[in-house]
Amino acid sequence: MDQENAKRIISFSPPDISELEIAEVAETLRSGWITTGPRTKLLERRLAAYIETGKTDVDCTTKEAIDKYSQKVVCLNSATAAEELNLRILGVKEGDEVIVPAYTYTATASAAIHCGATVKFVDIQKDGDSVTHCPEMDYDALEKAIGPKTKAVIPVDLGGIVCDYDRIFEIVERKKDLFTPIESDGTPLGDLSSRVQKAIGRVAVMADCAHSLGASRDFRGERKYCGAIADFTSFSFHAVKNFTTAEGGASTWLPLPGIDNAEIYKMFQLLSLHGQNKDALAKTKIGAWEYDIIGPWYKCNMTDIMAAIGLRQLDRYLGLLERRAEMMKKYDALCAELGISHMVHHTEHMDSSNHLYLIRVPGIGEIERNLIIEKMAEHGVATNVHYKPLPMMTAYGKDCSEYTNAYDYYHNLITLPFHTLLSDEDVEYVCDMLKEVVKQIV
Ligand SMILES: Cc1ncc(COP(=O)(O)O)c(C=O)c1O
Repeated sequence: MDQENAKRIISFSPPDISELEIAEVAETLRSGWITTGPRTKLLERRLAAYIETGKTDVDCTTKEAIDKYSQKVVCLNSATAAEELNLRILGVKEGDEVIVPAYTYTATASAAIHCGATVKFVDIQKDGDSVTHCPEMDYDALEKAIGPKTKAVIPVDLGGIVCDYDRIFEIVERKKDLFTPIESDGTPLGDLSSRVQKAIGRVAVMADCAHSLGASRDFRGERKYCGAIADFTSFSFHAVKNFTTAEGGASTWLPLPGIDNAEIYKMFQLLSLHGQNKDALAKTKIGAWEYDIIGPWYKCNMTDIMAAIGLRQLDRYLGLLERRAEMMKKYDALCAELGISHMVHHTEHMDSSNHLYLIRVPGIGEIERNLIIEKMAEHGVATNVHYKPLPMMTAYGKDCSEYTNAYDYYHNLITLPFHTLLSDEDVEYVCDMLKEVVKQIV
């Protein structure tokens, strides 16, 4: 190994935290307000503006922006909570079915199980989408899986690549006749859920955008950002994501005819804060101590400390996405040279958030794939696998026999380290090591 290729330590996905985030957190700690408060509300508005306009610098402190962007996004403590609350607002419960791709992280399925629903897995397309190679659901299988008990489908924008929502919406519209909305049970949540199901009038599309904040796709002839496509959307701001608040996430939804957005927002607040009808900030107003508990609900709110990180991350986010796009070109060139298949993050109709770089090495099995991962680690390069299909996991029955495309996609898959702390030299090093290791093993 020459001097240039002296061993480097390449982490898989450390958070990119600058002095700006550190200063904002320090200021929040000094401000006297550290739980959900003004910073969380500002981040919600700024995310709403970003999802609508693609711009991260909209001044969301003006009266006009407060009116325009409030109550459209709810910040929470994780994407898992966001997914679960989306399903709870829809009224998903025992006896219902939720369709989930076999190729995803557990949260996509477990959120539905927490609501009491049965998860129906759908296999992915053979070798993924024909253009992007993203392991998207087999949409014919999705259509067949929808039955009278189906309440929601949760497509996953894996690695930041946006699913074919035109196709998904066509399918759920076509199967509309099988859908029966629930009637109100007389409770505030049950009444809202019934109206939400009636307003949607078909299986709901609940996008898992844990990876895809800032990604966009042509949808119904117009370019739309994730969050402005599906009926309900969940985002993750976990430490390994492009955009982080350490832990964290957000929900958003499309306006529903006949239902005030403020009512949906209010229900998210209740569901995420014990069903308590006043949050801590509202209770600080003079004489306003008294509150009611309208349901024995959950505790998954975002704190202002987390939001402080998010506000400064959002200032930097477009630059971070650009840097990812730049690095991606190097990996693309390497894959072309080695004849390795990889996900394609940009097409004429779609721009990914460039979150994960998945490669599939041809002609190898699981044993060789694991050996490549080991050898890369010996050279100091952390890699990963996104994902071992969920049906292979103990909690989901350890049987992938019905999901052969998912297994096939996984068996030779490696996720390369991909983050904005990598220097050009680090990227070169990863490329050199992969070349060397693949030559040895394949
Ligand atoms: C596809 C997918 N969905 C949901 C989640 C859950 O995100 P969180 O950790 O914010 O709950 C993850 C986390 O990695 C994920 O990869």
